[in-house]
Amino acid sequence: MPNPGSLDITDGNTTDGDTARGVSPRAYRRVVLVAGALLTLIVFTGALVRLTESGLGCEDWPTCSEEEFAPEWGFHPWIEFGNRLLSGVVSVGVGLAVLQAYRRSPRRTDLIRWSWYLVAGVVAQIVLGGITVLLDLHPLLVSSHFLLSMVLLWATAVLFFKAKGDHGPPTPTLPPHLVKHSRWTVIATSALLFTGTMVTGTGPNSGDFRADRLGFDLGDVARVHGLTAWVTLMSLVMLAVRMQREGTAPTALQAPIGVAVLQGLLGYIQYNLGLPPTLVMAHIVGAVVFFLLVLRMHLGFFERPFEGAESNELPPRVHPDRDLARG
Ligand code: HEM
Repeated sequence: MPNPGSLDITDGNTTDGDTARGVSPRAYRRVVLVAGALLTLIVFTGALVRLTESGLGCEDWPTCSEEEFAPEWGFHPWIEFGNRLLSGVVSVGVGLAVLQAYRRSPRRTDLIRWSWYLVAGVVAQIVLGGITVLLDLHPLLVSSHFLLSMVLLWATAVLFFKAKGDHGPPTPTLPPHLVKHSRWTVIATSALLFTGTMVTGTGPNSGDFRADRLGFDLGDVARVHGLTAWVTLMSLVMLAVRMQREGTAPTALQAPIGVAVLQGLLGYIQYNLGLPPTLVMAHIVGAVVFFLLVLRMHLGFFERPFEGAESNELPPRVHPDRDLARG
């Protein structure tokens, strides 16, 4: 039951006062953006752990070793431990996204729910990261750790796009057959990320010399990965052609197509040079950027009902007592 003196914007849970007026939709989107940036950063530092062979720099979990929480100074232990510390910062980032979802004005249950998904994903990632260390960097666990990060980036992108408009079902801005094509391109991209992690699990960049390898032939698995890259690129190009033919400028596809071409070239070069860690690092950065661009393209094909969600303004203060007295 709302308090009669409260600022009842949506559901009676918001009380009067400056802090209780909550955050604006735009400020909330910024919080989600920061959480997304932190989730992206930790993928890169995770790759750094693997590519500097620091994966077992701390052999235990959650403490670095049986005797000590933090390691003595040393390159490998601190690269690994630094990544663990960053996961603390990421947790704060997604925690803030949940808190601010409750304080957002107007409050929206869908945004609250999606920000809780981020928290659940980060908790799962912390546990999975720990199990990966305890099981000596098994390649399937390393692959799952990377792919779960991609799921988290997808959830953050969905949350960000949901927060852009008002509550309500999204409306596609393209005809259904093109939306379907775009959805298949996202699926092809996901398959591409998956096959990439299979190449990693087979190749020499394991994160530590003690780690197991998948038993595939490196050439074969790289060919399958290369093929999924071609399929994804072709799918993007065909979508661009179909959009152009049907009178919609395929502007949203320029960046993903450009990055896919560069990323593919880099893939072949690094393979032929024997997978030097610096090039592999660039390939991972490229993969994440590509995935985010494909998500932006796809989510950008939907519109949401919009009533000033971009505005910095909070809804006008409501003073029921004063207004009643005036009235
Ligand atoms: C848009 C195109 C591409 C994307 C998005 C992509 C994405 C990825 C991803 C996500 C990984 C796994 C990273 C990890 O597990 O940490 C990977 C690994 C790899 N990719 Fe690609 N890839 C693309 C094209 C290619 C092409 C055309 C080749 C050529 C064969 C290639 C060769 C490799 C190799 C050799 C690895 C293993 C690197 C390692 O040792 O960790 N990639 N790729």
